[in-house]
Amino acid sequence: MHPKWSVTGSPNAANSRFRSTDSSVYRAASGTRTHHTDEWLWNGRGQPCELRKFPVGTAVDKIGLPTEAAAGTILGQTKWHDRIVMKPALQRLHPFPAETITIADAYTTERPPPPGRPWLGLCMVTSLDGSVSIGGSSGGLGNPNDLDVLLTLREISDMVLVGAGTARGEGYGPPSNGKRIGVVTNSGHVDLDTPLFRSGAGFLIAPASANIDETKAQVLRAGVNVVNLGAAVGRLGEVLPSVTYVQVEGGPRLNGALLAGDLIDELDLSISPRLVGGQGPRLTSAAPELDRRFDLAHLLADDDGFIFSRWVRRAC
Ligand SMILES: NC(=O)c1ccc[n+]([C@@H]2O[C@H](COP(=O)([O-])OP(=O)(O)OC[C@H]3O[C@@H](n4cnc5c(N)ncnc54)[C@H](OP(=O)(O)O)[C@@H]3O)[C@@H](O)[C@H]2O)c1
Repeated sequence: MHPKWSVTGSPNAANSRFRSTDSSVYRAASGTRTHHTDEWLWNGRGQPCELRKFPVGTAVDKIGLPTEAAAGTILGQTKWHDRIVMKPALQRLHPFPAETITIADAYTTERPPPPGRPWLGLCMVTSLDGSVSIGGSSGGLGNPNDLDVLLTLREISDMVLVGAGTARGEGYGPPSNGKRIGVVTNSGHVDLDTPLFRSGAGFLIAPASANIDETKAQVLRAGVNVVNLGAAVGRLGEVLPSVTYVQVEGGPRLNGALLAGDLIDELDLSISPRLVGGQGPRLTSAAPELDRRFDLAHLLADDDGFIFSRWVRRAC
């Protein structure tokens, strides 16, 4: 069992039923589903560790996010085996220190949409030296709590936006909760035969010049040769009339363009306790030099050395 997350001395009898399969994923060794209903375990230091449970039959994509069955790996080798992600204990450092806090509690808050467009929250993870990737993807930077921040914000938000580079590179599939995912592209070179688009969850945001088969995906056109992001974001209601909060999941070039357009209302930044060197990009790329102030809304830390911060754009 992972030494940091050993579950000795737990008051929860179900603990004895868990063993690790890797550093982040725990699988029920035996027993019935009724043994897995508790939300908390305790680690070796007596601190609570929250569990996130994906039931038998859940499909997950390659980074572990629940997705449509057609796109993912089905969990559950037998009918009793759930996949359980055990999360290192979490505490809040700011604004009011608290020893026991859940990610859902911390991130569920008011997000009043600015005039004429939805609220845009950017969710990213970086290394200590500012890289957003290791080995070409973000997966190696995260941990179960970081994944839960992403999932929780997806759940709370109305819609997800992502750059075409990230959608291509990170193998985006359709989310299990029916959310729409908008993929931003100038070229239109996006494979529309993937489960993301075949399911109807994916749509494109593209300029008028992009050559796209619109029988295969909904396309929101904005701009002539390059996407006019300000206009596109203001028209997301054409895709989902009730949209008020959009979760942006990178990558750096999309982030840079949103920053340049002053379209980032919130930054949910996870900091991974790693120095990684290499050529991985920063959080934003290709934006002109500018200076936008954000206020710290919360600061959480977990037992695994990760920091979870939420920043809100300071009103002018
Ligand atoms: N750490 C994290 O949280 C995190 C999150 C996301 C991504 N990443 C990492 O970031 C890297 C990818 O970086 P990236 O900058 O290439 O990602 P990206 O911004 O997702 O992709 C760039 C591509 O997206 C489209 N695009 C982006 N901004 C656009 C805009 N304003 N208008 C129109 N199209 C736009 C263009 O696609 P076309 O070429 O089709 O025109 C562009 O080539 C990967 O290593 C990935 O793992 C890390």
